[in-house]
Amino acid sequence: MGARIVGTGAALPQRCVSNAELAGSVDTSDAWIVQRTGIRTRYLLGEGETPSSLGVTACRRALEAAGRRTEDVDLLVVATTFPDMTCPGTSAFVAQDLGLEGTPFFDLTAGCTGFVYGLAMAGAYIAAGLGERVLVLGFEALSRVVDWSDRRTCVLFGDGAGAVLLERGSSEEGILGVSLRGDPSKALLLHTPAGGTRRPASHATVEAREHFLRMEGSGVFRSAVPLMREAMDRALHAASMSREEVDWIIPHQANVRIIDAFADRLGLPRERVVINVDRVANTSAASIPIALDEAVRDGRIRPGHAVVLTAFGAGVTYGAVALRM
Ligand code: ACO
Repeated sequence: MGARIVGTGAALPQRCVSNAELAGSVDTSDAWIVQRTGIRTRYLLGEGETPSSLGVTACRRALEAAGRRTEDVDLLVVATTFPDMTCPGTSAFVAQDLGLEGTPFFDLTAGCTGFVYGLAMAGAYIAAGLGERVLVLGFEALSRVVDWSDRRTCVLFGDGAGAVLLERGSSEEGILGVSLRGDPSKALLLHTPAGGTRRPASHATVEAREHFLRMEGSGVFRSAVPLMREAMDRALHAASMSREEVDWIIPHQANVRIIDAFADRLGLPRERVVINVDRVANTSAASIPIALDEAVRDGRIRPGHAVVLTAFGAGVTYGAVALRM
């Protein structure tokens, strides 16, 4: 595609919440959460923090890492499942706070696969000659939409944002292979019943708690590994690369058991898989760019490394991008 990542950035809320703290307000335990999910802590937005402010910080850090300014950005893509408002998209607020003027922006909803979809779209935009640089942000404030009385879901998620700046480059570097997929037969595995035009907000929907995220956990678990594997293999095929040539794999950070099962089935050495879900929990569309930024900043992922990003999410959507840093 001739588009490469030239800067990464991430931002987490200040407040870190342990499993033990959660167990003080919902019927759960540190032992249950660690054993079933591997999650130990998550970062949650505090009273004064706005969801899109995290996204703005992540974008600024990605631009700074790339040595670029906001004026250099030709397009802003914001992948998020739960925008600040139903209308306009969160990208409007991020663009406003970044000080973008005249630059196009849009939200992209593809659940936890949103960042992977967004990165692929950004690469295609550059390859089509429509721009030189695209800022891709994955951002989520799930603490504002989970039911804090439902122990089956509330322990799983965290808030956060991660961004990359994608820039025109040569065809031997950057994005080398893409696979974007979907299986709409599983559309209701993860969903929020009310609040959209199909079922607008009313007293009845609020009383029935239909504005909270609902999830069929075992269905998600069963689908996740085969879908991420299929997407990864398709992206590698498109890139003419073998699994052995990959230096780092960054799977969607939903659950350590899913990541372990994925690595085991594919025979991937654990030391080549980036994992941070134990500390930040599942941040949905933000999970991959946050993990990528951590691994770039601590020196694990270096220029020239081959990296595969693979995700699945509500829809269900799934996909992977194979790239060279
Ligand atoms: N603390 C204590 N007990 C709990 C909790 C909790 N937080 N949550 C559920 N339980 C109980 C249930 O009530 C149930 O009790 P019961 O037998 O008395 O009814 C028991 O634990 C077993 O519940 P299951 O749902 O069968 O537990 P399971 O082993 O399947 O684990 C989990 C649940 C962790 C959600 C698992 O299904 C899973 O990992 N699924 C994948 C979901 C996921 O990762 N989603 C991320 C969002 S999707 C995405 O990112 C794309």
